[in-house]
Amino acid sequence: MTVLDRIAISAEMAMAQSQPALLLDRVRKRYGASFALDDVSFSIAPGEVVALLGPSGAGKSTVFRCISRLATIDGGRVAVLGQDMAGMDRRALREHRRGIGLIFQQFNLIGRSTALDNTLAGRLGHAPTWRVLLRQFSADDRQLALAALDRVGLLDKAYQRADSLSGGQQQRVAIARVLAQQSRLVLADEPVASLDPAAAANVLGVLRDIARERGIAVLCSLHQTDLARRYADRIVAMRHGKLMLDQPTGTVTVPSLNAVYA
Ligand SMILES: Nc1ncnc2c1ncn2[C@@H]1O[C@H](COP(=O)(O)OP(=O)(O)O)[C@@H](O)[C@H]1O
Ligand SMILES: [Mg+2]
Repeated sequence: MTVLDRIAISAEMAMAQSQPALLLDRVRKRYGASFALDDVSFSIAPGEVVALLGPSGAGKSTVFRCISRLATIDGGRVAVLGQDMAGMDRRALREHRRGIGLIFQQFNLIGRSTALDNTLAGRLGHAPTWRVLLRQFSADDRQLALAALDRVGLLDKAYQRADSLSGGQQQRVAIARVLAQQSRLVLADEPVASLDPAAAANVLGVLRDIARERGIAVLCSLHQTDLARRYADRIVAMRHGKLMLDQPTGTVTVPSLNAVYA
């Protein structure tokens, strides 16, 4: 890498730091006659962990689908790392998706593949197509993946099949995968809903720590308000597709949270 490349990259990073990692501006999404998202606005800074709360049907998963563009919005604006998503061509969209790491409730790993191979899948968006077709990763990719597994405390499980791991370990592999992907924004839709309390706390702790260390913005939907209080910097709550609350975690009162679920 030349000095000029380095300067260009650090300038890009500085720019990325100065703007929100994620911005939703009056986003609307309609299904039939009803709005799943009705004028939803909030933003997330790099390194910030935001808990997305709200009862079932509030529109949480719809928020995730609109950001990853699995669903198209009917109004408003979504920008990721300062880039507006409207009118992206296929190439820009691929680039856009590469910067977003996804974690779901049902551990979306390939069960019969090893933890390492599942982590390497995070490199797919970076590798040239021929490498992907041959599933041939470079030494750098493998090193990055092993370092990611080490970071989530699973280096000793690298060659174990994903389906032989506990639920909490599988979610940590999913976190390793987004680390290998070098995502700047992580969307986690109920990542701890299937885990016991200890494993849930562990997974959210790792997620928060990597957010701080690497400046990754995290949007994480949760059902447990106590976990949101413990691990999120900010709480955003929705109800019937509308934003009810958007506050730093320390200022959120119990009655205001209860009102969201009432
Ligand atoms: N593909 C779809 N077609 C029609 N309605 C949908 C679709 N996806 C979600 N909805 C509706 O949008 C609303 C929000 O759903 P969702 O985002 O899944 O909520 P949450 O994740 O908070 O439980 C619900 O009323 C749901 O029925
Ligand atoms: Mg949902």
